[in-house]
Amino acid sequence: MPTNNRFWTLSSGRPLGGWPDEGTFELVEAPAPEPAPGQALSRTIYVSLDPYQWGYKRRGVDKPGQPCHARTVSQVVESRIDGLAPGDFVFNTNGWSEYGLMGEGVPRPAYMIPRKLDPRRGRISHAVGVLGMLGLTAYAGMMLMAEPKSGETAVVSAASGGVGQIAGQLARERGLRVVGIAGKPEKCRFVVEELGYDACVSHLSPDMAAELKAACPRGVDVYFENVGGAVFDAVLPLFNAGARMTICGLIAHYGDAAGVDSRAALMKRGEPVFQSRGVTVKDLFVGDWIARHDEFMAEVAPLVALGRIKYREDIRQGLETIPSAFSEMLRGANFGKMLVQVSPDPTL
Ligand SMILES: NC(=O)c1ccc[n+]([C@@H]2O[C@H](COP(=O)([O-])OP(=O)(O)OC[C@H]3O[C@@H](n4cnc5c(N)ncnc54)[C@H](OP(=O)(O)O)[C@@H]3O)[C@@H](O)[C@H]2O)c1
Repeated sequence: MPTNNRFWTLSSGRPLGGWPDEGTFELVEAPAPEPAPGQALSRTIYVSLDPYQWGYKRRGVDKPGQPCHARTVSQVVESRIDGLAPGDFVFNTNGWSEYGLMGEGVPRPAYMIPRKLDPRRGRISHAVGVLGMLGLTAYAGMMLMAEPKSGETAVVSAASGGVGQIAGQLARERGLRVVGIAGKPEKCRFVVEELGYDACVSHLSPDMAAELKAACPRGVDVYFENVGGAVFDAVLPLFNAGARMTICGLIAHYGDAAGVDSRAALMKRGEPVFQSRGVTVKDLFVGDWIARHDEFMAEVAPLVALGRIKYREDIRQGLETIPSAFSEMLRGANFGKMLVQVSPDPTL
């Protein structure tokens, strides 16, 4: 049994504005926790790094002295839970930590329900990605909320990222023209050549608005919003009558000064167009769609297994790299879904 644990925590209180830097996090060592009845101890293999985690820190959900929250894929080392044995692989929420407890009394977001994973049914890392919360986010926001119809045009921002790559491919499967927005040229190439989008425009281009307009000759019927800011401003004039927009995330604003409601600002900018063209805008929170998880898996897992839906991961190595990988992801230096592998994956 492990005696020691290492984890990353906030070094001092709640970050109020801006982006994380070298001083934001601290690596601490502590005794490994021991499972009580109804609990299990697991060794973290993959830590999922997601933009919402910056919100957890800024809103005070993560506390100094405790491991920073994250969804994880882990292997059980000691279990006092019926039906869970050492060696089993699980989806859980060990956070930015080498070891963690799961089970009775262990705090976690209500909708992040630990579950046993079957490594024969695909890569275990997918449980925090395409076959987990990210896939469900894309499925709910694109297929259930935006109700895409064959022949329409969909635009997806942060198109090469964890959620974006899945959302666009789902729309393509439904028969839409799909246009991505991403950063660097290699990401735009990947979106078209690997993911099968019809076009991809770079938000780094000074001509983004004109290039997007040219890529959407019949306007925009569905917009899957991950970014906000200048990207939203480029999409706004292109909305067709009756278009649907899902606000999944507004990552361009996650470093805004405390108290700025980026959604309200975006709605204010968009309101004249939304009203005049009857655009429906819906907010997405993946936790509201957990009841549709089985339906999502039944539809999407076979597409992933067949290679019709492709999924790129950006896997960094070692617990030490978590803060730098997290900062890189927030500023777009990830290429695919960002994960950190903190111990060996015996399934590979
Ligand atoms: N609503 C929900 O329940 C829910 C659930 C999961 C995720 N989300 C949201 O979904 C979005 C995508 O999350 P993800 O996990 O898939 O992350 P991700 O897309 O893998 O990574 C973030 C990407 O955002 C892009 N980006 C960052 N800053 C930008 C800026 N200023 N302008 C344009 N693009 C920028 C970067 O890509 P480029 O290099 O291409 O710019 C970066 O790679 C986030 O907004 C996240 O908060 C929401």
